[in-house]
Amino acid sequence: MKPIRKAIFPVAGLGTRFLPATKAMPKEMLPVVDRPLIQHVVDEAREAGIEHFIFVTGRNKGVIEDHFDRQFELELTLKERRKHSDLKLLASDLPGPGTTSFTRQQSPLGLGHAVWCARELVGNEPFALVLPDVLVQHSPGCLAQMIEAYRATKQNANVIAVEEVPADRIHQYGVVGVGKTKGNTFAITQMVEKPKREDAPSNLIITGRYILQPEIFDLLGTQEGGAGGEIQITDAMIRLAKTQPFYGVKFEGRSFDCGSKVGFLAANVAYALARDDIAPAFRKEIEELLGKK
Ligand code: UTP
Repeated sequence: MKPIRKAIFPVAGLGTRFLPATKAMPKEMLPVVDRPLIQHVVDEAREAGIEHFIFVTGRNKGVIEDHFDRQFELELTLKERRKHSDLKLLASDLPGPGTTSFTRQQSPLGLGHAVWCARELVGNEPFALVLPDVLVQHSPGCLAQMIEAYRATKQNANVIAVEEVPADRIHQYGVVGVGKTKGNTFAITQMVEKPKREDAPSNLIITGRYILQPEIFDLLGTQEGGAGGEIQITDAMIRLAKTQPFYGVKFEGRSFDCGSKVGFLAANVAYALARDDIAPAFRKEIEELLGKK
């Protein structure tokens, strides 16, 4: 069974739901409290033991590459001003030299296409796929939980993070069928993209974190456009499931869909309330806004 060393972060989308904020700035750089979304998920991947971070970027996304580089002028100024804790923070956020790679998706043809763009950088080994607009608040992180579940399968399996949603929202997501279950992990019997409520095999949806075997790349290479004309990762996974095992992991933790405005705002509130340095003052503000004081 091959270890999971590499993670793909697709960051080439247009982020239209956040216009005009995302006209000139990547959605993935929007901050949740004081860390960009992309930093939150890179931290999660580092904690899970990922050694190589592969970003699929596009036009207007150069600032993501800069974010994961040193900023000498800033560092010099901080040094002169003896801001040692800020300097330490910047250094600890940085992935090590040679552990990041950037490739381009020239046209935003869908998530599946973005993943396929990383095929040469991943090579012939299983990898993690982490969507930066899904945050999961928990320690250990969602990806660490998935890698543990992957190891427990003792085979070159594919593993998908899943979570429950209310039945009236099921038609918006990829939904999985549940087979033999052990602890928080189960064999996936089927995957259906955006089913009608009455056709959904369960109320468990596919949520932003995947461990995939490299055979997915060949399938993505021949994948036709699906919903919205985009090349969908779920369509390729449905094909891969014909020859390889897929497992679902019901992860611990609260997830936030930061691709939507409400999810993003909720993430900011939850992450601020979890910070010792911010929570007391922030809680007061929230209570005042809600008319509780
Ligand atoms: P989304 O569909 O949520 O992102 O894709 P989007 O297209 O940027 O946002 P909206 O819907 O227009 O508001 C999830 C992730 O996949 C990336 C996005 O950057 C995001 O991180 N993605 C999506 C790509 O890299 N390429 C694509 O063609 C589509």
